[in-house]
Amino acid sequence: MSQREATRGQATGGYYDRVYEESLADPGGFWAEAARAIDWITPPTTILDDSTAPFYRWFSDGELNVCYNAVDRHVAGGRSEQVAIHYDSPLTRRKETITYAALLSRVRAAAGGLRGLGVEKGDRVLIYMPMVPEAVITMLACARIGAIHSVVFGGFAPQELAARIDDATPKVIVSASCGIEPSRVVKYKPFLDEAIRRATHKPEHCVILQREQERAELGERDIDWMDWEAGTAAQEGAEPVTMTSTDPLYILYTSGTTGKPKGIYRDCGGYAVALRWSMEYLYDVAAGETMFTASDVGWVVGHSYIVYGPLLTGATTVLYEGKPVGTPDAGAFWRIAAEYNAVAMFTAPTALRAIRKVDPQASLLSNYYLPALRTLYLAGERLDPDTYLWAASTLHVPVIDNWWQTETGWPIACNPKGLELLPIKAGSPTTAVPGFDVQVLDENGEPVGPGTEGAICIKLPMPPGTLPTLWGDDDRYVNSYLSAYPGYYLTGDGGYIDDDGYLFVMGRTDDVLNIAGHRLSTGSLEAAIAGHKAVAECAVIGVRDELKGQIPRALVVLKAGIADTDSARIRAELAERVRAEVGAVATLDRVDIVAALPKTRSGKILRRTMREIADGDNPSVPATIEDPTVLDTLGPVLRRVN
Ligand code: COA
Ligand code: AMP
Repeated sequence: MSQREATRGQATGGYYDRVYEESLADPGGFWAEAARAIDWITPPTTILDDSTAPFYRWFSDGELNVCYNAVDRHVAGGRSEQVAIHYDSPLTRRKETITYAALLSRVRAAAGGLRGLGVEKGDRVLIYMPMVPEAVITMLACARIGAIHSVVFGGFAPQELAARIDDATPKVIVSASCGIEPSRVVKYKPFLDEAIRRATHKPEHCVILQREQERAELGERDIDWMDWEAGTAAQEGAEPVTMTSTDPLYILYTSGTTGKPKGIYRDCGGYAVALRWSMEYLYDVAAGETMFTASDVGWVVGHSYIVYGPLLTGATTVLYEGKPVGTPDAGAFWRIAAEYNAVAMFTAPTALRAIRKVDPQASLLSNYYLPALRTLYLAGERLDPDTYLWAASTLHVPVIDNWWQTETGWPIACNPKGLELLPIKAGSPTTAVPGFDVQVLDENGEPVGPGTEGAICIKLPMPPGTLPTLWGDDDRYVNSYLSAYPGYYLTGDGGYIDDDGYLFVMGRTDDVLNIAGHRLSTGSLEAAIAGHKAVAECAVIGVRDELKGQIPRALVVLKAGIADTDSARIRAELAERVRAEVGAVATLDRVDIVAALPKTRSGKILRRTMREIADGDNPSVPATIEDPTVLDTLGPVLRRVN
C-alpha cells in the first residue's frame, strides 16, 4: 500500500505524529518509499549517502530526468490533452492554454534550440524574464538537456544581474524585450546589456523574446526567440538526457547579508522526490487538479509551486502576469481561482494585505464562484494573525501558513493538510514537516524549553530537496549555515516552539530584508548608497510596515564639508541609486542624514538595535556599544514615520 493510500480515510488525530516520527527514525526507508512516485531511469539503491557529511547526498546512485517526469511522463500516461499551464496576463490582455502535449513539443524545440547554440549537460543558462510561458519552457528545456538554469527575478537591476552572471557564468542568457508593470513597460534588454557590460563573464548568445509592447534592438550576440524556436536545431528537438540524482537542476540566487548573492544548488533527484511528496501530503493537490500560485518564477515559490511541483504531479498550473490589486481590481485572484477551478491558491501575506486594503469587505469575491477551492496557502513572510483571520473569514477554507526559504526548496513547517489538517493557531506555521528535525537553540547550542525564543535550526541531515551546498563554494556553505552550531543547519530565523509543539517564526536574526515577500540583501542596498560620492558611511534597516511587512530605510553619514542645503538633492539621488542598482522593488522608504551610526567597539553597525527602536520594540543594546549617546540622538529620527 502506498503512503497516500495509507493516509486517505485514516487521517485522524495522530497520523501526522506517526509519519513525522517515522521520517526521522528511518529517513532511508521513508524517502525510499516516497521516491517510488518518480520515474527513474535507474532507481536508487543508496537513499541517504552520508559518507561525505556534512555534505549529504540523496539517492546518489539514482538516475532520472526531471523534465521527463514533469512533461513526457504525463503525455505518455494519457494526459496529452490536459492543460499543463494556464497563462493569464491581464497586463497584456492575453490568455493562453498549453496542454501537456503542446508543452512537450515547445520544450523539445527549446531544448533543441539550446543544443543548437552549443549548450551541453552541465552548462549554465541564465533566464531573465517576466512571467511568460517561455520562461517556464526554457527552465524545462534546460532540465531536459542537463543544462543548469539560473532564473533571475525580472525586478532586479543590472548590478544584481551582473553579480549573478559572474557567479553562474552562463553560456547562454534567455531574456525578453520587456516586462509589463501596471505603471510602465520595463525595458529588460537595456538592463541585460548593461549587466553584461558590467560583468566579467560574457555569454556567447542571448535569446530575446520580442514582446509587442516594446521590441528591443538586437545586437551581434542576440537571437530573436521566434527565429530560434523555428530554427533547424529546434525542429529536430532534443530528448531527455540521463542525469544522476545529485547533478544540479538549477542554481537560484538568494540574498544574504553581504552584497554577494548565494547560489543555492538544487539537485535533481532529491528535489523531484520532495516536491512530488509535498504536493500530495502538504498541499493536497492531485494529478488533474489546478494549483494557482501567485508568485514569480524568479523566486523559490515560483520554481517549486508554479513550475516543478504541479508539473511533476501531472496537475495544472497557472502562470499569472499581474498583481493582486489594480490589474484591474482587487478581485483578480478570485477571478483566476474561479476561472481555472483552482483547488489550491498560494500567495504571500503582503498580497492579501494589499487586497484587504482596497476591498476590506472582500465585496469583489461575491462576483465569483469558487466551489473547487479547498485551501489557501501563504508563505514568504510571517502570516500575521490579523491577515490570517481576515483571509479565513473571507474565504471559508483552511488558510495555511508555511515557513521555508530558498535554501530548503520546500516547506520546513506547515500544516500538513494532505496528511492531516491539524488545528490552526494564528501566527504559527504549525509544526515541522516530516523530514525536518526543527529545534530552537540558545547561544550555546542547547535546545531551549517551550516558549523560549532562540535560533531556529534544523538537525542534519535535512530531507531531500534541500540545498546540498552552494554553487561552487562549499566553504561558504559550511561557514554560512553549518558552523554556528555543529550538526545543525542555521535557518537565520528566530522564534520559539510552544507547549503544543507549534513553531512560531518571529523574524530574521541577521540583517536580511524581506520587502513584500522579496528577500533582499542589506549589503546590496548599502553598496548602492555607499557608491555616492557624498556618503561617508551608511546603514540600511528593514522597518515594520503594515502592507509590505518591511520597508527599507537608510541612515547616512555624509562626508565632512557637504553643505546642509545639498541634503534634499542627495537624499533623492540616493533613493534613485538604489532603484537603479538593486531594482525598483528595493525602493527606499526614507533616507535620513545623521551625524553618526551606532557601533560596537569592534566597529559593527547596530542595525538590529536601530530596527527595534524604529519598530517601537524594546531595543537590545549590546554591552559592547562604543558610544551609547549616538543611539539617544538617533532615537527621534528612527521613530519618525512618513
Ligand atoms: N519587474 C520589474 N519591476 C518590478 C517587478 C518585476 N518583475 N516587480 C515589481 N517591480 C517594480 C514595480 O513596478 C514597482 O515599481 P515603481 O516603484 O516604479 O512603481 C516596484 O518594483 C515595487 O513593486 P511592488 O513590490 O510590486 O510594490 P507595489 O507597491 O507596486 O505593490 C504589492 C505591492 C503588495 C501588491 C506587491 O508587492 C505584491 O504583489 N507582492 C507579492 C509579492 C510576492 O508574491 N512575492 C513572492 C513571495 S512568495
Ligand atoms: P526566501 O528565501 O526568499 O523564501 O525567504 C526566506 C525567509 O522569508 C525566511 O528565512 C523567513 O525569514 C521568511 N519567511 C518565509 N516564509 C515565512 C513564514 N511563513 N513565516 C515567517 N517567515 C517566513
